[in-house]
Amino acid sequence: MNSFLGIDTTDKADLRRMIDAARAMKDARAGQPRGAPDAEQPLRNRMVALIFEKPSTRTRVSFDLGVRQMGGQTMVLSGKEMQLGHGETIADTARVLSRYVDLIMIRTFEEVTLLEMAEYASVPVINGLTNRTHPCQIMADVMTFEEHRGPIAGKKVVWSGDGNNVCASMIHGAGQFGFDFTFTGPQPLDPEREALDFARAQGVQAVIERDPMKAVEGADLVVTDTWVSMHDPQSARERRHNQLRGYQVNKLLMGQAKPDALFMHCLPAHRDDEVTSEVMDGPNSVIFDEAENRLHAQKAVMRWCLAV
Ligand code: CP
Ligand code: NVA
Repeated sequence: MNSFLGIDTTDKADLRRMIDAARAMKDARAGQPRGAPDAEQPLRNRMVALIFEKPSTRTRVSFDLGVRQMGGQTMVLSGKEMQLGHGETIADTARVLSRYVDLIMIRTFEEVTLLEMAEYASVPVINGLTNRTHPCQIMADVMTFEEHRGPIAGKKVVWSGDGNNVCASMIHGAGQFGFDFTFTGPQPLDPEREALDFARAQGVQAVIERDPMKAVEGADLVVTDTWVSMHDPQSARERRHNQLRGYQVNKLLMGQAKPDALFMHCLPAHRDDEVTSEVMDGPNSVIFDEAENRLHAQKAVMRWCLAV
């Protein structure tokens, strides 16, 4: 039994096997209606709790669909409606849920909530996003890159904008999947030092370049995300827009990357803030493949968690 808490805390070889398994599962059901069951039903008789303390479209729908395709059942729970949001401890919630379900996915605020859930649950726990990380997203991103361009190892990935939760998991991904990483954004929004150190310790480049035009030179993949995340105060909006305006991913910036460089965004996007519609809808954008691959990648993650 394994919990999937972070890209950095999951074994490298296991991560690789999950990406390959996701690819195989996607291929195996090509052309099938979305609701059709997979030929294999590894989650038959399994119950999965999906807990959301923040909004979600992709994570919610892709986990729910993935469980159903693999023959399992889901309970989608909103944090606010649970006793968790009214004073019951995480530890007690984890112990109780472990008596009802076989697997827990949680999207929450503080990373410590996720870790406590995993510590006290006797079933595997999956990180569906915290303020600090978003590992499921990076599984889908690696899968998507490789689908279009082959192995990601040795490639150059550039993140332009806010050094947020998705960015931190991408940096962990650099270390685990062996790609070089460049962050470009304003200093107050730098990604956490620990993530950069983690990647460097795995022998890849993980650097900061303030000049976005320089940063994207030779990039194989350019990535951005919202300038204001769900955990950020709305009052920060105007300041962040001023800080980040120069890091918008637009045609000019993409022009500095390799001609076949891909563009990714975990979505939801704020069109014409962090990225122009021209880039989002342009020939190098793979944002909707990326969204679809959340489904396939997470199915592989769930199978790994349950060893089925
Ligand atoms: N990318 C992502 O996690 O999207 P949702 O917030 O819609 O789940
Ligand atoms: N950084 C964003 C990602 C949303 C999927 C947030 O945390 O709001």
